[in-house]
Order: sequence, then structure tokens, then C-alpha cells
Amino acid sequence: MKVKNAYSDFATVYDLMGADRHSVQMVAYTMDIIRRFRIHVTSALDLCCGTGTALELFFNHGLQMSGLDGSAAMLAIAARKLRGKKITLYHKQLPKFKLLLTGNSRKSRQFDLITCFYDSLNYMKSPRELGTAFQSVQQHLHPGGWFIFDMNTPTALKTIWGNQVYAEAHENVAWIWKNKYSNKNKSATLQVTFFRRAGKTWSRFDELHVEYGYSNSQIRTLLNKAGFTVKGFYRCFTFQNADRHTNRICVIAQKRK
Ligand SMILES: C[S@@+](CC[C@H](N)C(=O)[O-])C[C@H]1O[C@@H](n2cnc3c(N)ncnc32)[C@H](O)[C@@H]1O
Repeated sequence: MKVKNAYSDFATVYDLMGADRHSVQMVAYTMDIIRRFRIHVTSALDLCCGTGTALELFFNHGLQMSGLDGSAAMLAIAARKLRGKKITLYHKQLPKFKLLLTGNSRKSRQFDLITCFYDSLNYMKSPRELGTAFQSVQQHLHPGGWFIFDMNTPTALKTIWGNQVYAEAHENVAWIWKNKYSNKNKSATLQVTFFRRAGKTWSRFDELHVEYGYSNSQIRTLLNKAGFTVKGFYRCFTFQNADRHTNRICVIAQKRK
């Protein structure tokens, strides 16, 4: 049985499984953050935009959106969803990426806001990679621009993912997740088996996902090193400070001027 890389065939069932609901919640929460911190946003980039749900919702709020993702399969779904909307999609890999200004082969495009939702930064394999991703983000923000992201904490990877098996069966899709947690490098490895129905036929595919957990202090230090000031470090979907028991954090950071 062939086990594929993360976000290959998964793209075809991502929205069907309801994974797009996280974007709906994150966009509503980000709009609250924008009001609370009086952030002025015209242009924004959604990193690891996946199937493009957040791009569409932000666009509907009047933001000029661009999206970036490393998976061609996820971007293909996003492109279909966003057809007719003026949204640029980039096929690029984190941690190091460069989006150039058109007509200028050296200067990076810069945005007022960069977002990155739903564990995407947990795919960075080491503090070094995470720091490099933060530096790339910093280079693509205007001075004083904002970076808002959520991540799983090591607590979530250990206690929710842990050494657990999760399974669900729906009318057209079913899945089994087998998780293993490694205390050594605070990572969770998921072997995912999906079943997708087309007419009377079910097809099966398997993918391997590995997420890495970083402590709150590691994340703060890396952001600081990359030229950000941390303005909020919350339990995701609230405005209460995160602590070591938090499962999902949301970080609000501003590029130093
Ligand atoms: C859990 S999905 C989240 C998608 C979307 N942000 C959402 O909230 O639904 C993680 C996304 O991160 C992308 N991703 C993971 N590692 C990446 C990397 N190194 N470079 C670019 N994209 C990456 C995947 O292709 C996938 O679309």
C-alpha cells in the first residue's frame, strides 16, 4: 500500500470532511482581532491557504487577498473555489519563500497582514525552520504590518492527538487516523487512511502527516529574533492569555517599524 505525502489526495476530501470550518471560525476571530487592535488592512496574504476558504471569506470582507500553499492539489481546489475573484495564488514551500513585486526582480511584495491558520506552522520540522518561516513572513510585511496565526501546542499533540486512533464514517467519506506521539522531539505522526465514494465505488488512499510542537517561549523568542513584537498570545478564539495547558494558541505579532 502506497503512503503519500501530506495534502495529496487529502485535498479532494478536505472540505467534505468539514475541515474548512476552522477557516470560518478563524476569519471571524481575525476580524475581531482587527477591530480590537485597530489594524488597518487593505492587502493580506494567507499562508498555507489550503483549499482557499479563508481567502474567499476575507475577500468578501473587502480585503485584497493573495494565497500561498505548498500543495498543488490543495491549490487546485482553491483555484476552483475562487474562480472569478481577483485573488493571486502562489505555489511555494515554507519555510523560505519570496514573492516578488511584478516588474521588479529583487523586491519582495509586502502586505498589511499575513495569516497562517490551522496547524500549518506545526509542519515546520525544527525551531530553525520555524524561525526561517517567521523571517520570510517579516520580509513580506510593510513596516508595522501584522502577522496572525494559530498553532497546536505540544500539550495538544500529546493529549489530543497522543497515541490515539480516531475514525469517522459519513455518507461519501470515511477516515481512520492513527497517531503516535514522540516525547523526544514533541512531534505527532499521523497515518491517515481515507475512503472516498464516487457513485457506487469507494477508493482508499493513505497519507502521512507529522506535526511538531513548540513551547510558547520558543515561539516568542523566534518571533522576536525575526523582528516582531508580540502583541497577543492567546488561547485561540479568546482574548485570554495562553498558558502551558492551552491546546491551541493564536499569536498576534507586529513587524517592528
Ligand atoms: C491543515 S491545512 C490548513 C489549510 C488552511 N489554512 C485551513 O485553515 O483550512 C495545512 C496546509 O498547510 C500546507 N503546508 C504544509 N506544509 C507546508 C509547507 N512547508 N509549505 C507550504 N505549505 C505547507 C498544506 O499544503 C495545507 O494546505
